[in-house]
Amino acid sequence: MNSVWLVPFVFLLLLEECVGRPFYPLPSKVAESNKQPLQTFRPYNIAHRGSNGEFPEETAPAYMRAIEEGADFIETDILASKDGVLICFHDVTLDDTTDVAERKEFANRKKTYEVQGENITGWFSVDFTLQELKSLGVKQRYKFRDQQYNGKFSIITFEEYISIALDAPRVVGIYPEIKNPVFINQHVKWADGKKFEDKFVDTLKKYGYRGSYMSKDWLNQPAFIQSFAPTSLIYISNLTDLPKIFLIDDVTVPTQDTNQSYWEITSDSYFEFIKEYVVGIGPWKDTVVPTENNYLLTPTDLVAKAHAHDLQVHPYTYRNENMFLHFNFHQDPYAEYDYWINTIGVDGLFTDFTGSLHNFQEWASPSPNDGNATKLLHKIALMISTYRKV
Ligand SMILES: *[C@@H]1O[C@H](CO)[C@@H](O)[C@H](O)[C@H]1NC(C)=O
Ligand SMILES: *[C@@H]1O[C@H](CO)[C@@H](O)[C@H](O)[C@H]1NC(C)=O
Ligand SMILES: *[C@@H]1O[C@H](CO)[C@@H](O)[C@H](O)[C@H]1NC(C)=O
Ligand SMILES: *[C@@H]1O[C@H](CO)[C@@H](O)[C@H](O)[C@H]1NC(C)=O
Repeated sequence: MNSVWLVPFVFLLLLEECVGRPFYPLPSKVAESNKQPLQTFRPYNIAHRGSNGEFPEETAPAYMRAIEEGADFIETDILASKDGVLICFHDVTLDDTTDVAERKEFANRKKTYEVQGENITGWFSVDFTLQELKSLGVKQRYKFRDQQYNGKFSIITFEEYISIALDAPRVVGIYPEIKNPVFINQHVKWADGKKFEDKFVDTLKKYGYRGSYMSKDWLNQPAFIQSFAPTSLIYISNLTDLPKIFLIDDVTVPTQDTNQSYWEITSDSYFEFIKEYVVGIGPWKDTVVPTENNYLLTPTDLVAKAHAHDLQVHPYTYRNENMFLHFNFHQDPYAEYDYWINTIGVDGLFTDFTGSLHNFQEWASPSPNDGNATKLLHKIALMISTYRKV
């Protein structure tokens, strides 16, 4: 099934509304008590940068599509503009996913800065005001994905992203990353002397996000805070008890802030230390199961070790395209999900294709409250109707 073709009518309506509506009203229009709760009986479907397999990453349509496709959490990366507004954007430079290079008026903004010990040249979000950033068109990162939406959508703010989650017709969690905190705190200054991490938590509090994992408050408005920087996670643990996830990069990459090696931060003693602050880890999936010549090797003990310390494991990133699927999975993303969920036993998955993971989980582990025949018939009728040509 190629879900890219199946853009249901409802979504087209949402898209139109979103194009013509620069602001997202707050608070949510749907009464909290009427919303279908977050599912917690199977691994979380984490929509990596929204449904970015279909739409340019971290845009409103990418997030709305992910919600429509069944995401439990919509995931984002938080950076800051020159004037201190928190935005949803992955790279510190705008080059790869916007049209900034074609904008003559910004030609002289190209700079070289040291980011995590490496000199990077490009157009940096920290040199642009929010208004300037909003004037850019976001584009698809990968050439082999749908290019038709390039330039059509803007960068959104952290607040706009939150309002998309709160506006969802069911409870949908947020999963924001404190992105490059060392770099952002070097380049962006807030008038009140606060730092990036303070602004990040202030925003979450402003919209009612609070409470520890699985608390009543948390279940009403679920959120995971993620970062590759342990210093930031420890710092914000004084500001909020929302659950935090410690991201872990490739085995060759030291932590951005504390310059610790992969081996140090995945040791039993480190897990013992960090579990005071976080509920889980978010490792790159090749560190959990190393690969060679596009085949999987023997899994490491990372998941067992994390679980022994009561830490969840949410690996990244699952992608449908052939070039991202290891040969073991014979080009079938469902086979990959089956392996990671049922053999490796992860607790959440960052996916570029929320719809595929959702369909797999609905097929392989449907909701226990969902098993009655009327519902099943209704579901089948819905599936059939999606296949009809619009
Ligand atoms: C980055 O460039 C500056 C200026 O040329 C230089 O002083 C610095 O050593 C460079 N840093 C790295 C990590 O290469
Ligand atoms: C957290 O707050 C306590 C009490 O105010 C303080 O002693 C401690 O240094 C703070 N920790 C961090 C990481 O900021
Ligand atoms: C980070 O650690 C490595 C290995 O211990 C060391 O070679 C390097 O100089 C350190 N870098 C910084 C910026 O401290
Ligand atoms: C089955 O689902 C339908 C529709 O949600 C509901 O009306 C009905 O009460 C359910 N039956 C049982 C036995 O749970």
